[in-house]
Amino acid sequence: MTKKLPDEVMNAWQEREGPLVLITVSKNGIPNAIYASIVKIIDDGRIAVVDNYFDKTKLNIDEGNCKASALFIASGHKSYQIKGSVEYHTQGPLYEEILSWADPKHPRKGVAIINCEEVYRGKDRLA
Ligand SMILES: Cc1cc2nc3c(=O)[nH]c(=O)nc-3n(C[C@H](O)[C@H](O)[C@H](O)COP(=O)(O)O)c2cc1C
Repeated sequence: MTKKLPDEVMNAWQEREGPLVLITVSKNGIPNAIYASIVKIIDDGRIAVVDNYFDKTKLNIDEGNCKASALFIASGHKSYQIKGSVEYHTQGPLYEEILSWADPKHPRKGVAIINCEEVYRGKDRLA
């Protein structure tokens, strides 16, 4: 079930340092990690990651029922991890929304939306 990100995570997101790490998993259970910097928490509290250069990440998502983990670090060396499912859009409101802010110098092929199911600060579960 999709959860809203806790306020602590929303606040930490504003102070995140460096790119997000996005890990997806193949049907065979092989993890794949990427850096992503064209990212945003959308209005309903989910994480949008713009697909500019996805390759293995997109293959994993296309396999269906893909699970993901998004990891970032905020000030004070606190790390936050959001685990959940992934949706992918190439049209519709969520895709239109990224076109309004993501730099058009990149291809903006689509947007991956991470639906939050579990949230951690370090080892501690927040949601
Ligand atoms: C600092 C940094 C930020 C990046 N940000 C993005 C991004 O926002 N969107 C994207 O599609 N690729 C981004 N990339 C490229 C991906 O990390 C990755 O190379 C690409 O998805 C292909 O890897 P894959 O085959 O594992 O999917 C970024 C790379 C770096 C080094």
